[in-house]
Amino acid sequence: MGSINTTDDGSRFVLTAEALNKALPTMHPTTRAIHADDFVTPHRAIAPGMHTAVNFRYARDPEHLVPEENKDPNAPDDSHVYSRYTAPNSKRLEVLLRSLMGGEVITYSTGLSAFHAMVILLNPKKIFIGDGYHGCHGVIDIIQRLSGVQKLELTDIDQAGPGDIIHVETPLNPTGEARNLAYYRAKATKKGAYLTVDATFAPPPLQNPLDLGADIVMHSGTKYVGGHSDMLCGLLVISTKGVEKGWMKTLHTDRQYIGSVMGSFEGWLGIRSARTMQLRVMRQAETAQKLAAWLQDQSKDQSSPVGKVISRVQHASLQADDLKDGWLQKQMPGGFGPVFSIWAHNLDHARRLPSRMYVFQHATSLGGVESLMEWRAMSDASCDNRLLRISCGIEEFEDLKADILQRVESLVREFP
Ligand SMILES: Cc1ncc(COP(=O)(O)O)c(C=O)c1O
Repeated sequence: MGSINTTDDGSRFVLTAEALNKALPTMHPTTRAIHADDFVTPHRAIAPGMHTAVNFRYARDPEHLVPEENKDPNAPDDSHVYSRYTAPNSKRLEVLLRSLMGGEVITYSTGLSAFHAMVILLNPKKIFIGDGYHGCHGVIDIIQRLSGVQKLELTDIDQAGPGDIIHVETPLNPTGEARNLAYYRAKATKKGAYLTVDATFAPPPLQNPLDLGADIVMHSGTKYVGGHSDMLCGLLVISTKGVEKGWMKTLHTDRQYIGSVMGSFEGWLGIRSARTMQLRVMRQAETAQKLAAWLQDQSKDQSSPVGKVISRVQHASLQADDLKDGWLQKQMPGGFGPVFSIWAHNLDHARRLPSRMYVFQHATSLGGVESLMEWRAMSDASCDNRLLRISCGIEEFEDLKADILQRVESLVREFP
């Protein structure tokens, strides 16, 4: 008691940002999620302050005036001029996410504005993209009007050339099925193309596409970074190679002019949420795997209530051949993602089931703490109209299972 820590040379110990940053890589991600941003602000409040300021006063000492810079000597990361360039809450979230995502991170107002920024940065002649979130296709269609970029299928990648984009969403929206990134990396390397990955459905600790050679990873942070269905956010995670090519600088300049910055309130919510991302995502993924396995088992028995309503289940954890092959566990060492899909035998049941659930909410989006079951035809016209997308929240597995069982029983009674 009362002793003062000393350093090896006997001088008094004071913890510095430099010392913490050196120690962070040795810490578990759950610890980093709480402490990676400890030194971003000079303020000593344990919980982050919410800064709504658009404008920041320059240094009072004219000797310290540096054009386009506004560094606080006590917190060099907390340097801001105008919030369309950078802002305290979003910068702090970027520092925190950098520690969790394994690469430099830049945030955007939405997942789609992150995707848009990525396509502008790489400026390809061709983009190869498969099924998946329809909004990314919408962004490419807009860019096509301006630049003539060609949109092709992932099955056409043999036509890729240097500088083109091979964009892989994995796991896939809405089925939760995983695609083999090593396969696409090899193809991209052969053709001199970029591999970009939409990893929204499996954030850390489930997978890290940078480890498998992705050039850029994008996320709709609206989903698992936010995790509480109350903020819009997008992010890009840049590989070391990309950072060396100066991509972070270009992305920051582009964001500054396009103005696709995340709001300060969202930055503040994002810090609060990212602290628990690992805990939430692990539990959500575990629940999804158990629920998908149970539903698949039940659906095989056509005389069971579930089997009378549900014909098919799809989720990465059910890709038996890929699990046997081994690439899937390598790609997703932390688990298989909290989203999967089920197919009803008929349209009438698909349309009616989500509305009668008690625990599952009938809504779009996903990634929140609450479980959702969406009749996907509500938001994606291209989707099979018997498909129901399930996003697992953090409720108790037994309650989710009971909810499905009781509601399919009542559905079959009313609409045999
Ligand atoms: C896989 C995927 N990517 C991108 C997006 C777009 O994200 P946002 O809604 O934050 O723009 C979504 C949204 O649902 C998504 O599911």
